[in-house]
Amino acid sequence: MTIGLSFLCGLLASSVSYFMLGLWWPVALLVGGFAWLAFGLLDVKMNSTFTLLGGMLLIFCVSLSAMVLRANDQLSGLQFANTQDEEGTEFRYPVPLLGQARYGEKIYKASGCVACHTQQVTHESVELDVKAMAGEKNHAAAQEAVSRFYRSTGRKTSGGAALGLPVGEWETIETGLNPADASKARNFLAAAGASVDVQVRFRGEDLMQNEHSNPEGRGWGRRRSVAQDYLFAEPPMLGSVRIGPDLANVGARHTRDALMRILLNPRIIRKDSKMPQHRFLFEEADEGEQGRHIIQDGDKAYKPTADAEALVDYLLSLKGANYPLPEAPVNQPFTSSLPDPAPAPAEEAAKTTQPVEADK
Ligand code: HEC
Repeated sequence: MTIGLSFLCGLLASSVSYFMLGLWWPVALLVGGFAWLAFGLLDVKMNSTFTLLGGMLLIFCVSLSAMVLRANDQLSGLQFANTQDEEGTEFRYPVPLLGQARYGEKIYKASGCVACHTQQVTHESVELDVKAMAGEKNHAAAQEAVSRFYRSTGRKTSGGAALGLPVGEWETIETGLNPADASKARNFLAAAGASVDVQVRFRGEDLMQNEHSNPEGRGWGRRRSVAQDYLFAEPPMLGSVRIGPDLANVGARHTRDALMRILLNPRIIRKDSKMPQHRFLFEEADEGEQGRHIIQDGDKAYKPTADAEALVDYLLSLKGANYPLPEAPVNQPFTSSLPDPAPAPAEEAAKTTQPVEADK
């Protein structure tokens, strides 16, 4: 084979490995070089069955290991992460399904809930707001850093902090930044000796509603779902159709009683509900029977079966999109505008002075 033709073969091999197999570029170059060498110098012929089969086998092995095995390795290497609950108590996340909840997962699967409900909260974008404060000493340097930041991002150069950073007061530098620009602003300002405060806001219609930063939120979760959330799900019932609300975080928004009612007859709670009834999970209660979970529907009284109890245990355990993870943080407000903790306990003080991670 001529040098020119073998070079084309090498080029083809490296483009396929880079663009289609997604290999790291030095590896793709190596593959290309190897192919060039093989066709050009070693005179491997494309018209022999052996070469063709060998090439096919090679490509199969490379793609299998790059796309299937590596991804599988990444996912199966997932571990617990530390997070905090509403009261700030640390715990290890995710929590394995306890008691009847594991059986409830089976009922969920068998009842086909996944046909109408997803369990995956998404977000659309993350935006960061940056505030800065300069003292007398570093005021000029901070002012210079602000101008440099505006110039380098081509943002507005009039109004607000561009006109003048007041000494000893927090001033908003820019709102709605992407992570790259926000960390640029933070680096410029920190290098100039100014104090920097960053607020992180996630937007997306699945997330909590916020009048200003996320008006279209449906309140299905505080953060997006990530692979770690499904560590104990067998199998993860992600779903693909949303006829009803997403349930990844349903345990955080309903009580046991409300969930029982939704299963028995959702119209007890909402007149025009489209959710089907699941009466097969309930039994008629005997006349005058007393109990925690007797549900009145019209003139009949119902009690949940063991299956209903287990299913509701499972639903209550679904709090996937509630707790922040390193990989999927939740909104972080400006720490400088939080009310000052009255005679601050040491721990609180440490919290407010912690640097805020901007580049997540
Ligand atoms: C045919 C589609 C469909 C099926 C199947 C279905 N649901 Fe629903 N579900 C809905 C709809 C629609 C709603 C919204 C109801 C409303 O508007 O009040 C809903 C609401 C809910 C809610 C309340 C959610 C919230 O955020 O308020 C829960 C909990 C729920 N479903 C659980 C289940 C469970 C558990 C199953 C399986 C046993 C199931 N659903 C099966 C359609 C369905």
